Amino acid sequence: MTAPLQIAPARGKLGVLLVGLGAVSTTTIAGVCAIRKGLAPPIGSLTQMGTIRLGRRSEGRVPRIKDFVPLADLSDIVFGGWDIFEDDCYAAARTAGVLEQGHLDQVRAELEAVRPMPAVFDRRYVRRLDGPNVKKGKNKRDLAEQVVADIRAFKDTHGCDRLVVVWCGSTEVYMKQTDVHATIASFEKGLEDSDDAIASSMLYAYAAIREGIPFANAAPNLTADIPALLQLAARTKAPLAGNDMKTGQTLMKTIIAPGLKARLLGVRGWYSTNILGNRDGEVLDDPESFKTKEESKKSALDYIFQPQLYPELYKDLCHVVRINYYPPRGDNKEGWDNIDLVGWLGYPMQLKINFLCRDSILAAPIVLDSALFLDLAKRAGMAGIQEWLSFYFKAPMHAPEVYPEHDLFIQLMKLKNTLRYMRGEQLITHLGREYYD
Ligand SMILES: NC(=O)c1ccc[n+]([C@@H]2O[C@H](COP(=O)([O-])OP(=O)(O)OC[C@H]3O[C@@H](n4cnc5c(N)ncnc54)[C@H](O)[C@@H]3O)[C@@H](O)[C@H]2O)c1
Repeated sequence: MTAPLQIAPARGKLGVLLVGLGAVSTTTIAGVCAIRKGLAPPIGSLTQMGTIRLGRRSEGRVPRIKDFVPLADLSDIVFGGWDIFEDDCYAAARTAGVLEQGHLDQVRAELEAVRPMPAVFDRRYVRRLDGPNVKKGKNKRDLAEQVVADIRAFKDTHGCDRLVVVWCGSTEVYMKQTDVHATIASFEKGLEDSDDAIASSMLYAYAAIREGIPFANAAPNLTADIPALLQLAARTKAPLAGNDMKTGQTLMKTIIAPGLKARLLGVRGWYSTNILGNRDGEVLDDPESFKTKEESKKSALDYIFQPQLYPELYKDLCHVVRINYYPPRGDNKEGWDNIDLVGWLGYPMQLKINFLCRDSILAAPIVLDSALFLDLAKRAGMAGIQEWLSFYFKAPMHAPEVYPEHDLFIQLMKLKNTLRYMRGEQLITHLGREYYD
């Protein structure tokens, strides 16, 4: 056992600033407001419902996670955010069409109080959208300074003790790391020169990280996952998490694939297709935004199956991912997976998964949990990439010398062991010899 970390108490208000008040953000905000009023249970949220075993199985010590580590209370959260549309959170939630009118009306006043600040937006990075609530500035540095000013003003106006920023904006076009992203100095020069390699999401990430504020990326964009912003986070002690929340089909993939691999069943092909009719689906209809999503969705299977170690089982696996924009379904995505398996002596089998999910219903608890855990990390002095939060993401951020961990069950063990480590409790290895010796 090691000594517990010094964790500052979760005193005062926590401001949660969401970039983009679309389906995910409004469902998160409305959900927290409804849960606070006792109108609904926080299903899907580990911070609110999860427990953690401490010590031996025979000890029976299984507190709730929120009683074990000092998390901000839901009643202390104040929401704010930015969007390119002027709609308040109530109107935006109605447009998103995720929650029923009756649900929204029960928290209408709280939702109407959340009005989006003008966004940093450039159609070059999200081609299918345009809106009026957009900042003007002489260059990208000026725009970033305006976001810093927004953050500080929000903190003062709402009397917040601490803040967290989460990118819940649209998926930006596919971008690769360039020299501009290499160091803080090259990035800041790029801001001055309004370099094309700096997307809108990077300006929010830069502003938050420069202020030492925890930042999470719920989308697959490069955003904070560049050396310049990692260096800045180390300097300002800002914790980071991302990328791209693991919800519908990829969540199922990272549940099923570790099981197949554990039993050494081969996989020749995995064909995944989706229909989705919300604004996210519309943005992803642009091939450049889809490419960002595709890269994020495709990486999970390779890392879980490790074809380099098991070539007879997984080499040349044909993995196809499709997303089709289909407006009649709105936020209620439907996903189909066909998995071509191989068993004993090479005999083929098939597994079909048909998931009729609700995208933002699966995403909202992840936004809440990431915000609360990042705030905890900040108070515990943990800076930079928080790999223990990989559990929530499709393309987890990771140190350059290691591969990302995608197996949901290993991710959960890592998360819970990190909480035990923070509190100076014994890490659980599942060896369990002590019960039989
Ligand atoms: N819903 C899910 O299950 C899920 C899962 C994983 C990832 N995501 C990602 O989360 C993000 C949000 O998803 P959503 O369903 O809420 O989409 P959405 O289209 O409903 O909301 C996105 C919002 O971001 C705003 N926006 C775009 N660029 C902006 C900018 N530069 N500044 C401020 N606002 C901006 C848009 O106007 C829109 O209101 C998407 O990138 C999506 O791919 C969603």
